[in-house]
Amino acid sequence: MNKDMESLRNILGKARRICVLTGAGVSAESGVPTFRGDAGIWKNHNPMDLATPQAFDRDPELVWEFYAWRRMRMREVAPNPAHFALAALERIAPHFTLITQNVDGLHQSAGSENVLEIHGSIWTLRCPHCGAEEENREPDLPPLPRCADCGGLLRPGVVWFGEPLDARVWDRAVTVISECEVFLSVGTSALVQPAASLALAAQNVGAVTAEVNPEPTEQTEAMDYAFTGKAGILLPGLVPEQNA
Ligand code: OAD
Repeated sequence: MNKDMESLRNILGKARRICVLTGAGVSAESGVPTFRGDAGIWKNHNPMDLATPQAFDRDPELVWEFYAWRRMRMREVAPNPAHFALAALERIAPHFTLITQNVDGLHQSAGSENVLEIHGSIWTLRCPHCGAEEENREPDLPPLPRCADCGGLLRPGVVWFGEPLDARVWDRAVTVISECEVFLSVGTSALVQPAASLALAAQNVGAVTAEVNPEPTEQTEAMDYAFTGKAGILLPGLVPEQNA
């Protein structure tokens, strides 16, 4: 497996279609906790109590408490060099799609434009009763926010375990992967499906595949390139010089 950054940088500089999949690791250096591992959110919290539709039916106040805490944390943070490097890569590539599992909106804050939020956004609230959706960044949500249209109990606009992804967003992700020449996986444990399947889909269409992660994942061995380290340190070194 190749570890030559200059070689991948040259490939990225010439590629017409680039897809990047990001996970919680990209926001770690901004101060957003990841999910798995010793410092991860799921180390001390059971996702089945906080991130499933059943948990919300059972105890919506607890689920909202968790999301209010995450919104508070995410409001206080800023994009890091990894987010900015991916935004810079988008400006250079003729066709670039950023597929993210993150719900924090930091890619957009850093200037990324073509972003597919396959796990939704923590800044969107959705009414499961009438389907209304609103963007909402208010710091002080009521403990149980209500829909302005129908009075129903609003939920965070994120995808929970056991739920399907938004079909339009996912179909778009599958389409861009089927056309991509380079696929870069950054800061994801690659354990959650269907997101993790995108690497294999990219391989199947002959894309050059690469991973950036401080830890090996189940996909590391199958990648063409793998770089061990933090995204905020490594990604800036993968962005080709403009006009090069
Ligand atoms: P995970 O917490 O599973 O994995 C984070 C990955 O980031 C790990 O592989 C770490 O090694 C890596 N990492 C940590 N610090 C990093 C850094 N500075 N730079 C680069 N990588 C770093 O997070 P995800 O893979 O995003 O879904 O998890 C996928 C989904 O599972 C999430 O979207 C969420 C979660 O449960 C739902 O809530 C539905």
